[in-house]
Amino acid sequence: MCGIIGILGQTPVAPLLVDALKRLEYRGYDSAGIATLEDGHVERLRAEGKLRNLEAKLATVGRMGRSGIGHTRWATHGAPTERNAHPHATDRLAVVHNGIIENFRELRRDLEAAGRVFVSDTDTEVVAHLVTARLDEGMSPRDAVQASLGALEGAFALAFLFEGEDDLLIGARRGSPLAIGWGSNEMFLGSDAIALGPFTDEVTYLDDGDWVVLTRAGATIYDAAGQEVGRVVTRTQGATYVVDKGNHRHFMVKEIHEQPEVVGHTLAHYLDLANGIAKVPSGIDFAAIDRLSITACGTAYYAGFVAKYWFERLARLPVDIDIASEFRYREQPLSRNGLSIVISQSGETADTLASLRYAKGEGQKIAAVVNVQESTIAREADIRLPTLAGAEIGVASTKAFTAQLSVLAATAVAAGKARGVLSAEDEGKLVRALSEVPRLMHQVLKLDEQIEALARELAKVKHCLYLGRGTSYPIALEGALKLKEISYIHAEGYAAGELKHGPIALIDEDMPVVVIAPYDRVFEKTVSNMQEVAARGGRIILITDRKGQEAAAIDTLATIILPEMPAIVTPLVYAIPVQLLAYHTAVFMGTDVDQPRNLAKSVTVE
Ligand code: AGP
Repeated sequence: MCGIIGILGQTPVAPLLVDALKRLEYRGYDSAGIATLEDGHVERLRAEGKLRNLEAKLATVGRMGRSGIGHTRWATHGAPTERNAHPHATDRLAVVHNGIIENFRELRRDLEAAGRVFVSDTDTEVVAHLVTARLDEGMSPRDAVQASLGALEGAFALAFLFEGEDDLLIGARRGSPLAIGWGSNEMFLGSDAIALGPFTDEVTYLDDGDWVVLTRAGATIYDAAGQEVGRVVTRTQGATYVVDKGNHRHFMVKEIHEQPEVVGHTLAHYLDLANGIAKVPSGIDFAAIDRLSITACGTAYYAGFVAKYWFERLARLPVDIDIASEFRYREQPLSRNGLSIVISQSGETADTLASLRYAKGEGQKIAAVVNVQESTIAREADIRLPTLAGAEIGVASTKAFTAQLSVLAATAVAAGKARGVLSAEDEGKLVRALSEVPRLMHQVLKLDEQIEALARELAKVKHCLYLGRGTSYPIALEGALKLKEISYIHAEGYAAGELKHGPIALIDEDMPVVVIAPYDRVFEKTVSNMQEVAARGGRIILITDRKGQEAAAIDTLATIILPEMPAIVTPLVYAIPVQLLAYHTAVFMGTDVDQPRNLAKSVTVE
């Protein structure tokens, strides 16, 4: 949830650290800070709130040091104040941390008993004192760090800078990502390839338990046992990640409008469009699989929920779908002939990674639908199903969601054909339907003005209900999540058929109901739901097609008419109006659309 950067440079590193933190700000933005060695002494600069506050401070002080570390924070322990901002320091060192030290209270109690004085409420400060205590005993920085790591429980990615050591950085990772960047007489540490992008495209991802000693000459990597190990150097696209908004006001709206291109690019990877064939991902024998288990978090979970309908209907494959934080505690019996699919944009979500490891421990083959190809989940899966969405910076996931749906739809068609339950003719029809999605998305994006006008009304409410049936039910859940996470309006998604089992008690003129309902075989039942809402003074926002509008024949606050389309593609295309509705509502409400309060782009703590 936080971003880390470390640089052993040839020029003053302070501005470079801040630039890297800008590329990491999507991981958390409650506070930020840097530490540099100024004439051998550790000097910190920290600021509460957005990175621009740190930049303003930096502009007023000179920092010439060529070695330094930096951090952008999503608060876990301790309020997001300057006092709790990283780097944390003693008289011997500074340290930055991503993760949670689960036994920090016991360690802090023992260190305080030994006379050490704490000045923050964070778990991280314990690490600073733990290593310093060992330095004070005469240990070298390397030995002091190694001896301290064994005392830590929980997840961490750490970077240390030492008083008087201009040519030394030490890093360590357990559970949270950390990578080495290789330069020429310069070396780097960072949370991911995006942060390291401006400095190098040669990157080494540390494995769990690894720690590393960096000098400008290079890096020595050790495993958890302290044995020197080699790790692969990979060339990344980090430097090519376009981390700017172009001519858009926010990353989120830029990414919403990138969806036709992203979905087209992703589908082309999984479909043979010329021959109407859905390619079976290599390494998966769907004929030999008798059950699917899908786990993910948030928006990625809703993509998996849609896929449950697709795999069960098109491939006749039973699917268990779980929120990742529940999956491994449920201890469901996993079939020996099963396949586990995890879905993650960042590939670093702790709950999803833990689910992957649990399923692997249960003997499952793991397929990961993942956007960041160098991520931990991508590297630990047996089969990688990439979403080709490019860097998604907006905290609210949009293009990654429809790219996930693209991968899952294509794979469900491939599974149906491989299991002999879909004919070549049916396969061809479904592939052609999917190939229409970019064009359909382009058409729906033209409804932006109508949706923006509607959002002005929605921005006035305090609560909102989203309803859907079939594959529109997970889209209702996703629409509610989009609205609540960026506009802070309370919103709930429900299966439309559940309305009369409780939620209808909420209906009045202050509770608008967004109904996601393409004209399909269950549409008439949803009409009944809308009549129940209207009869109680509820205001309806109906997202449907021409046939649906005619069949509903009901007064609404607004009716958004989408093109008619085959049922398999409605989740991908109906995602766009709910994304735009949430986006414009948040803009009217003046919230920080790309970096909503309390959130971060990648939740790397459980
Ligand atoms: C989506 O808009 C949210 N930002 C959040 O629910 C997100 O989908 C979830 O944290 C999963 O992230 P991942 O796809 O990177 O694993």
